Amino acid sequence: MIQKASLKLLQRPPMSESVIPVELYRKTSLISDLEQAGNPDLDLDGPILMNILVKFFHTYVYPGSHESVLDLRDISLLFDQFVHRRLGSDVLENCLALRQELLSYGFALCMLADLPKSAHIFKAIAESRPHLGGEVFTGLDIGSGTGILMLAMSVQARRNGFNAVSLVGIERNQIVAERTNTVLGKMGLGNVIVADAKKVESYGFLESKELHFVSNETLPSVGRSLWKEDFIFICKTLFDGLAEQTSKAGFFPEAVLVGRSSTEMLTELNRDNSFQLEDENYPLRLMKPFAIRLLGTMTPLEAVGSGYSENISGAWKSVLTRRW
Ligand SMILES: C[S@@+](CC[C@H](N)C(=O)[O-])C[C@H]1O[C@@H](n2cnc3c(N)ncnc32)[C@H](O)[C@@H]1O
Repeated sequence: MIQKASLKLLQRPPMSESVIPVELYRKTSLISDLEQAGNPDLDLDGPILMNILVKFFHTYVYPGSHESVLDLRDISLLFDQFVHRRLGSDVLENCLALRQELLSYGFALCMLADLPKSAHIFKAIAESRPHLGGEVFTGLDIGSGTGILMLAMSVQARRNGFNAVSLVGIERNQIVAERTNTVLGKMGLGNVIVADAKKVESYGFLESKELHFVSNETLPSVGRSLWKEDFIFICKTLFDGLAEQTSKAGFFPEAVLVGRSSTEMLTELNRDNSFQLEDENYPLRLMKPFAIRLLGTMTPLEAVGSGYSENISGAWKSVLTRRW
């Protein structure tokens, strides 16, 4: 009894502020925000991007909420429950099932919940100009996680006048892929398959369809060698095995700056070199990524999203999770 009471003393109280400032919050549904973002005359600024991200976070945990006008307090409560999912917190009292879900989708939600970086990446994809025309925009999201980059592709398609989208995600984590498939299915945005994106057979569903856009967010985090994640191996599969389908596609990341260290053998990987490098003296897999090109600017990985942190409320800046 005494032990239980003292454990309770260690529990964190609820966060007092909302995750994004109240004045930035739009009393609109996620679907309506996405429609607005699809207007090419609208500047995709921090507030609209944050609204999309925090509302999608809610929809991911509560599929179907994309059509509702949510209360920012409910969204903030969910973020609070998420960031404290492994610890004791008042906001998780008697919420065993929710805690289990937040733990199961934890890695994917961590990526989305890095709101500044997610906003920067979302904008870069949404504002890309496709090189390929047609009625239907075709996009592929490799390592889709929550599928947030598929939302960004759908905005890109609308901003460029496409009538319809055909988006497919590939995700190797079955639990995450199934949830993302459910969420995106309800939103009418596409589907996700469970597969290993390094294998050319995983792309059989594409047949000979040309892609407008490919996102491949499978880079290792700052300071880790490229072999630790599948990015370069997936690029090899794409460029060797799916050259026809990807020949006019836009890419995220558009380019990656890699090197032996931040000052040695720095080289840019991009579609012109198939994101590969032939160097007999130092293999690519031992190199590390240092920067990616976003909105035309080569941006150090740690600086991605830095311009968006002003859209996050004070105390939340230190508790939100990080992508890389
Ligand atoms: C850094 S997360 C990015 C998630 C998501 N794209 C986002 O922006 O939030 C990388 C994701 O890629 C998936 N992944 C990594 N290697 C993969 C592979 N070979 N095939 C399929 N999925 C892979 C991981 O399971 C993880 O969900």
